[in-house]
Amino acid sequence: MYPLTRYRRLRQTPIIRKMVQETRLSASNFIFPLFVKHGKGLRQPILSMPGQYQLSVDEMLREIQRIKHLGIPAVLLFGIPKKKDPLGQEAYARKGIIQVAIRSIKKRFPDMIVMADLCFCEYTSHGHCGVIKRSRHGSFDVDNDRTLQLVRKTALAQAEAGVDFVAPSGMMDGVVKTIRTELDKKRFTKVGILSYAAKYASAFYGPFRDAAQSAPQFGHRRSYQMDPANIQEAIKEIMADLAEGADMVMVKPALAYLDVIARIRPKLTVPLVAYNVSGEYAMVKAAEEKGWLDKKIPSPAALEVLTAIKRAGADLIISYHAPEIVSHL
Ligand code: PBG
Repeated sequence: MYPLTRYRRLRQTPIIRKMVQETRLSASNFIFPLFVKHGKGLRQPILSMPGQYQLSVDEMLREIQRIKHLGIPAVLLFGIPKKKDPLGQEAYARKGIIQVAIRSIKKRFPDMIVMADLCFCEYTSHGHCGVIKRSRHGSFDVDNDRTLQLVRKTALAQAEAGVDFVAPSGMMDGVVKTIRTELDKKRFTKVGILSYAAKYASAFYGPFRDAAQSAPQFGHRRSYQMDPANIQEAIKEIMADLAEGADMVMVKPALAYLDVIARIRPKLTVPLVAYNVSGEYAMVKAAEEKGWLDKKIPSPAALEVLTAIKRAGADLIISYHAPEIVSHL
């Protein structure tokens, strides 16, 4: 009797395994999120996201130097303002933290791709993603039209600062069209739009809300973010954003929505971006810290998760794991 190996032939050695690998992660497909705040020399650890920091602009530039070296082409910026107010005014102020950060990156690293989150929850005192309208009965809603007016100002402020892509994440209806129309009118035709098109009302944003101090002070986001049970609705949102002029579309979170990614990819002719969110990062890091998952560097669990997101169909991945994983590819 000969030993019977049929499928294992292609798994025999590292070289064969590498040759037949179907899904490959590449540094050039990652986008790294950064949290920026006012001040100097600040590098404040985010407790629920080990290895991630709130950075002042100077420290952010150092971080960008490091990731640029690793071959990561893009960053996604989130701002922590000096002051919050009901209308989130620092989001669209010329000297707002994001505008300052964009200008300084473009000056030092002109070819780093700068994407800016465009939302108000970090900037509003109530923590919602737009302008609050209260009814006489005490209930409230986020006013879509009034929020779009602020979106317009913010997109313009980010474009004037030199952003490459604005990334609206507030899930307001008509947001992509509003931004595209404004940018074109003001001749920022080269500025692109990465739309958070299918963004779910997820439990996995918890650590981000610590990091960006953006938890809603009352209520929840379920009247604008999507129900995790729905996939047709994701397709509808994505198609609408493409029709309105989005250059790339996003599914967020990634891990609990791999089926959404897989279902949507064949319907698209633009890059599909997946956001491996804060809670997904925190789960891996927490289990590693406890010794419940293997605490090697690069993290085997993170590598597996990111490979799964790519295998499901994501073209680009936004991930806090990016530098750690990319430096070992
Ligand atoms: C802002 C925004 C959120 C995230 C990205 N942009 C939080 C939210 O909607 O509450 C979450 C990112 C993450 O969890 O890593 N609207």
